[in-house]
Amino acid sequence: MFTATSSPTVALRRLEWDSLHFGVPVAELPVPEMNDEDLWGALTTARAEGLRLVYWATYRERTLPADLLAEFHGLAVNHRVKFVASLNDLRQSQTLTPPRSPGRCVDYRVGELPRGPASRELLQLSIVAGGHSRFHVDPRIPAGQFRELYEVWMNRSTLGELADVVLVATPSNAPDDFAGVITLSETAGAGQIGLLAVREDRRGQGVATLLMTAAHDWLRQRSATEVSVVTQLENRAACGLYSRWNCEAVEVRQWFHFWPQAADEGR
Ligand SMILES: CC(C)(COP(=O)(O)OP(=O)(O)OC[C@H]1O[C@@H](n2cnc3c(N)ncnc32)[C@H](O)[C@@H]1OP(=O)(O)O)[C@@H](O)C(=O)NCCC(=O)NCCS
Repeated sequence: MFTATSSPTVALRRLEWDSLHFGVPVAELPVPEMNDEDLWGALTTARAEGLRLVYWATYRERTLPADLLAEFHGLAVNHRVKFVASLNDLRQSQTLTPPRSPGRCVDYRVGELPRGPASRELLQLSIVAGGHSRFHVDPRIPAGQFRELYEVWMNRSTLGELADVVLVATPSNAPDDFAGVITLSETAGAGQIGLLAVREDRRGQGVATLLMTAAHDWLRQRSATEVSVVTQLENRAACGLYSRWNCEAVEVRQWFHFWPQAADEGR
């Protein structure tokens, strides 16, 4: 066990939006590399300052001593991975092999959703999209607050605030029956995928493949040259999907959550 340093070298950065959303003071440790002693000192300071939740994004293989995790109620929540793919290779869509999935019994169409508040179906899909998110994985975060986070994200996307376009996949014979959704934005030639989800009972039928193809087409029409997406290494389906588009993992960070106050936090 380390003793607390009186003046830790790493400053905590308070997060206003997160504090407001979760209703408790939240901060992050903004540097990925810290030794155990500095980390212990920073978390002691966080405790003294009344912070309830502290995020830390560090290197992929970082391990922490059990006594530190126990003292600050720390949890390794997941590994965030950022994928980037070039859109310049015109042959890419031709070389893409169709999914092996056998259940392609229904024809799907992909179309742009008109702007407006998100429907109940889309809000449900937003929660599906966040299934591997650290806010879902951490059992100390109330389930309702996790859901609200993703619902706000979806609603602000369909309103055009957090996305430039929302594409939905529907069976050709049931245009109001949303099987899957992808949200996209584009800035200065760089495309970004926000939310992606396929309804559980529609998976393995190539719906995400159709959505990704339509997303790439939309971005190419806007002359975008690359697309990026963030997911978790633990999300094997998403990683498998993105690797089919020659996505390259450009950054992997392991995320920890610490609850420095007491053991009585929780759902
Ligand atoms: C990831 C997800 C969108 C895939 O949707 P889908 O419509 O079932 O995917 P497709 O049928 O188009 O499959 C395309 C490829 O994705 C990969 N894939 C899909 N499901 C997979 C699984 N369970 N395990 C591993 N790879 C998988 C495969 O590479 C597959 O190609 P293959 O069939 O040739 O192996 C879906 O599982 C989902 O909604 N998951 C929950 C939400 C989520 O994780 N969203 C991404 C957040 S970043």
